[in-house]
Amino acid sequence: MRTCAGACLAFAVWPAAAQTPPFPKEVIESGHQYFEQKCAFCHGRDAGGGESGPDLTRSKIVADDVKGDKIGPLVRAGRTEKGMPAFSVSDMELAGLAAFLHTQKTIAESQKGGRRGVDVSDLQTGDAAAGKAYFNGAGTCSSCHSATGDLAGIANKYQGLKLEQQMLFPRDAVAKVTVHLKSGESMAGKLAYLDEFTVGLKDSDGHYHSWSTKQVSFTVDDPAAKHADLLAKYSDDDIHNLMAYLQTLH
Ligand code: HEC
Ligand code: HEC
Repeated sequence: MRTCAGACLAFAVWPAAAQTPPFPKEVIESGHQYFEQKCAFCHGRDAGGGESGPDLTRSKIVADDVKGDKIGPLVRAGRTEKGMPAFSVSDMELAGLAAFLHTQKTIAESQKGGRRGVDVSDLQTGDAAAGKAYFNGAGTCSSCHSATGDLAGIANKYQGLKLEQQMLFPRDAVAKVTVHLKSGESMAGKLAYLDEFTVGLKDSDGHYHSWSTKQVSFTVDDPAAKHADLLAKYSDDDIHNLMAYLQTLH
């Protein structure tokens, strides 16, 4: 649950000169840290593509981006139907992310050949008992899920990468939003669009409505948002162990 009036989107930001190449080391490093925590599981540590996210060093969005103007809207809105979660990055975090991604792109382009990517067999290296302990303990998974309830048979429903993607970020979960208008009225529905400037919803008749984020306040209730928070907690071992455990749930 997160509440936002337009104002909470305004944060401190790096000076303009720090947001164009050559990027200062501390700007790149701030982006690198954020990326490792929230993005590397899917896009790979070097942004060169991972088990469930594309190679960002070859992304057109990154290529066209200047000072986060293309990366920002995408990261803040996500493409949830395609497995890319939405993140509420501050302007400062965004500037760091953009500097990091542009730098990784330059590095990748300077290295010829050398196919990167991950091996699907890497998904099979975990320890199921450790995964079970994590599921019921530090991972807090059992506070929402049960191995004999909603996740029973999950290994039959999805295999391999598909299972990992669904575990990292369940793409079918629908977020709800309530928008409070200045008139005192409010309107609720499925979250259909969200970036720094616009919030949009679909009402129960399937009609789309949108507002400027400066004109309204709104509350987003995303039942799977916890999954985006958890991304910052997992180690690679945790993920492989969880995968091994989930694969025993037939
Ligand atoms: C749970 C996995 C996951 C996480 C975590 C994730 N992404 Fe993504 N991301 C994806 C997927 C999948 C796509 C491709 C979506 C599509 O096919 O349109 C994507 C697409 C993108 C794109 C667009 C690439 C293009 O050219 O179309 C950018 C930029 C991006 N992600 C940046 C980030 C950043 C920055 C973070 C961290 C704040 C992040 N992603 C976290 C899965 C993820
Ligand atoms: C705060 C609640 C919450 C926590 C904690 C949580 N999840 Fe989820 N999870 C959800 C919601 C909501 C969904 C999407 C709705 C659904 O498919 O059940 C989901 C979906 C999933 C799915 C896909 C289920 C399917 O049938 O497609 C898997 C797998 C999963 N979670 C695994 C985990 C694991 C592993 C953990 C712990 C590391 C975890 N979840 C922690 C709420 C949570």
